Amino acid sequence: MKKQITEEQLQNLRKTVSEQLSPKRAYHTLCVEQMVARLSELFCPEKTMTLRAAALLHDITKEKSTKEQEALCKELGIVPTLENHFSPKTYHAITAASLIEREYPDFADEKILSAVRWHTTGHAGMTLAEKLLYLADYIDESREYENCVALRKEFFDANPESMNMEEREKLLCRVLIHSYRLTMEDLLSEGRLIAKDTVEAYNELLIEQATHR
Ligand SMILES: [Fe+2]
Ligand SMILES: [Fe+2]
Repeated sequence: MKKQITEEQLQNLRKTVSEQLSPKRAYHTLCVEQMVARLSELFCPEKTMTLRAAALLHDITKEKSTKEQEALCKELGIVPTLENHFSPKTYHAITAASLIEREYPDFADEKILSAVRWHTTGHAGMTLAEKLLYLADYIDESREYENCVALRKEFFDANPESMNMEEREKLLCRVLIHSYRLTMEDLLSEGRLIAKDTVEAYNELLIEQATHR
């Protein structure tokens, strides 16, 4: 997709997506859109519309059961891994990205597809757009879980608006590392599987942080 996404397209997408989700998931989706717009303005204003669209589409398959996810994988030609099977929350990012290509071709932009694909686990070599959707999904205003509230506060209390870009990037790196740590601590304490992409994303961010001056 080469043309810039318009407000009208986003408005139609907001309506279509909201109609397909439960009120709670629709509200979260709209809050992620708001948050990613806020983050984009700080880091890459030129990507705001693209990331808004990615936010609106990120959880379109979240409410499907594991059985439905597995059937959808089959239908879409996705071969799930054992890791997906034992960490079923990872399915929806994969199926959503694939479904966008089929059902929302106007939004099948590479940046949208990759931001949606990696919004749950992250992975090594995350692009800025992927990082911003990942963080927006963690700290959007609909999140009341204490870790999310703490991370939201950590990011905005640092007053990123007053920072230069280098300082903002360091803050983003620091807050992302913290979010991964909290996520992995939760998974460990519940005895659940940690996706290897999550571990790789965390390790890479730690290395990135260590190389900051
Ligand atoms: Fe999600
Ligand atoms: Fe989400």
